[in-house]
Amino acid sequence: MTTEAAHFEAPRGMRDFYPAEMAVRNAIFDAWVRSARAFGFAQYDACVVESLDLLKRKSGEEIVEQIYAFKDKSDRDLALRPEMTPTLARMIVGRQGQLAFPLKWFAVAQCFRYERMSRGRKREHYQWNLDVVGEACISAEVEVLACACHALSLLGLNAGEVKIHLSSRALLADLLAKAGILPAFHAATFLALDKRGKMEDADIRRLLQESGLDSAAIEAVFRVAGIQSLDQAAAMLGEQTPSLATVQTLFRLANEYDLGAMLVFDIGVVRGLGYYTGVVFEAFDAERKFRALFGGGRYDNLLGDVGGAPMTAVGLGFGDVVIAELLADKGRLTGLQAKLNCAVGYMEDIQQPVARQLVRALRRSGQSVDMALHAEKPKQFFGRVGKGEFKKAIYVGPDDVARGIVRIKNLDDRTEEEKSLSDPVGR
Ligand code: HAM
Repeated sequence: MTTEAAHFEAPRGMRDFYPAEMAVRNAIFDAWVRSARAFGFAQYDACVVESLDLLKRKSGEEIVEQIYAFKDKSDRDLALRPEMTPTLARMIVGRQGQLAFPLKWFAVAQCFRYERMSRGRKREHYQWNLDVVGEACISAEVEVLACACHALSLLGLNAGEVKIHLSSRALLADLLAKAGILPAFHAATFLALDKRGKMEDADIRRLLQESGLDSAAIEAVFRVAGIQSLDQAAAMLGEQTPSLATVQTLFRLANEYDLGAMLVFDIGVVRGLGYYTGVVFEAFDAERKFRALFGGGRYDNLLGDVGGAPMTAVGLGFGDVVIAELLADKGRLTGLQAKLNCAVGYMEDIQQPVARQLVRALRRSGQSVDMALHAEKPKQFFGRVGKGEFKKAIYVGPDDVARGIVRIKNLDDRTEEEKSLSDPVGR
């Protein structure tokens, strides 16, 4: 009988991060964290495992069908979180009496969704969550959007390269009501309209029909869905509603934040998650080659739905997968990996103590230094360290030790400077 060695791979859709991928991930996380801090958001974190009940609070959403669920040894129904928002709501409700509102929190959360694998979609992703809880003013939406755009600019993307498509469920509800669709049908209509672009219109018509809409109502839904601009929406409404005023104010404020060029009104943005109640948005690369970079909106009922006092909130989720694909496509991934300051090598074992002293002095001065683990010929050393990972290299040979100097080679421009072995950091 022959026994074949088992060949293991990461489970389908799950991700390993080799150092090159880890460098990209770190650069993305770094941009997220720096932006959130720049905008005054406080970081939180939570368990990846949640109770299934919390995550299933609404039915009919695609995300509920994608949950990785399991039972623990005490028969509890648990799941890996597919998103962070229910957890955030649970945490806030847990301390609603003590926390000061409005609060601005952010997290970098690992999320799991059993999705059909496609470009931009994995079964595991990291998601930057930015949320403002307890603030009804539209300035909360603008602040969250401006913070996400700041992260994009830290990653080297400019205003012309990303577009934020924005609408409002409240405005859509007013438009549907005006078109004669009763509020009882709005939730199902939102879910059906969210499928536009991913499904044929005929299938969306069938979904609407299954939700109980007659053919006249279905035509009315498609007339609303065909709106091309905010002015057209205003004309169809025929009156100034709070929902319309909110979106108009948002566009005005966005100009003050220099976001105006990135924002487009798009009645087609509905969002698949059931909890959104107001403004909703999704950001895409301007060429629309990739899936959404981030998405979010206002949700007024979630805190109440998970047992808290009702409280308004607005936020977004920004995943690491699509942004990395976009940066790769634009050739912007090189340079994201921070180089180490210095590599130190030596010719013979006898120079090893000197090299080690040197490394200790450099490390004490705050530099990141790689110390050779054995003696090498100069060709071997420079061949090994000259592949772009290091800014500088020092090779310790017998002549340098005899002269009491170190020669520091700048690997970018091949220039060299000499320093005293006793003070390798000094000027
Ligand atoms: P979402 O639109 O489901 O919203 O996800 C937000 C972002 O996470 C997406 O735009 C995408 O970048 C990324 N993402 C989602 N699923 C995957 C996946 N399977 N693979 C790779 N990336 C993915 C939410 O999750 C909301 N909870 C966001 C939010 C926060 N709303 C308010 N606060």
